[in-house]
Amino acid sequence: MRERLVKRSEMIPCRSAFIDTHTPGSHLKDNFSIIGPGVTENAEQVVNIREPHGFNIGAAGQPPRIKNSLHSHFTAEVFMIHEGTFEIYWGLDSECRTVLSEGDVVSIPTRCFRGFENVGEQYGFLFTVLGGDDTGGVEWAPKVFEAAEEHGLVLLEEHGVWDTHKAPIPEGARRVKVMSQEEASGYDTYTEAEMEQRISRVANLVPQTDAPLSSGSYGSIGHLRIIGLDESVIPGGDGFEMNLMTADQGGGVQMHSRKEKEVLICDRGSWKIEWKDKGESGCFVLEKGDLFSLPPDLPRTFESIGVNPGRLYSVINKDAPSSPSWHA
Ligand SMILES: [Fe+2]
Repeated sequence: MRERLVKRSEMIPCRSAFIDTHTPGSHLKDNFSIIGPGVTENAEQVVNIREPHGFNIGAAGQPPRIKNSLHSHFTAEVFMIHEGTFEIYWGLDSECRTVLSEGDVVSIPTRCFRGFENVGEQYGFLFTVLGGDDTGGVEWAPKVFEAAEEHGLVLLEEHGVWDTHKAPIPEGARRVKVMSQEEASGYDTYTEAEMEQRISRVANLVPQTDAPLSSGSYGSIGHLRIIGLDESVIPGGDGFEMNLMTADQGGGVQMHSRKEKEVLICDRGSWKIEWKDKGESGCFVLEKGDLFSLPPDLPRTFESIGVNPGRLYSVINKDAPSSPSWHA
């Protein structure tokens, strides 16, 4: 079970994960691959848990004013603002934008160019969830390649990101084909009002009374389906469901199990997670920024034990997970 726990301090950043890593304004971003093979373009990237989960979880850490360049994915990409304030922008000319604060979540659709900038005064950190085991990778906007090449970086098919200032391009190596401006301009655009439908703002959240875990909960705890097919804040259908638990000290969920893999991400507070497995039992306490992957069918309890209010995300590898089973 310890291998399924990733403390915030065990998340290892890569500074050269992507093609824009030398481009001023994007050069100081930390890229984290936490669960799944991810979408990194650098083979040296550390992945904490490689086991397939049906989705990939990563993170981006950026000092103030640092940007994550315009790109698109083949599956839905979710940003969960964990620390700081980010401006998310989208469209081929970054023509639309909105500011997200700690606790806000956005799900960006496929075939849409997006990027984000830390517009706060402190180091900012956001978690990402990308649908699918094999996500198909990253598609960069054409101008991202142009800017990268001005600073010596090219993307090669077998070698990934290549620094031509350090070594010439190997003989026979092929460059990844850059998308034409014409093709890129055919990608989808969304108005700010349309994207707002895909944003969960923490200030507007109202816990649901009939959420699947409500019947086995105790103390002061609220449940909310952030992304899913039924009664969710953001429409789902991307192969995973995302839920949120908010609880004061002593609020929790009784022993239950579920058929799907479930990843817990502690956004705020301290959460005690206990489990039972064939007569053996165990317990971890998740602190802010920690992540824990629960295997299918494992009986478990959750409890908020910190003095500050707790917020715990749950990502489950099904569009519409089956109801949990309750255990005595
Ligand atoms: Fe991305």
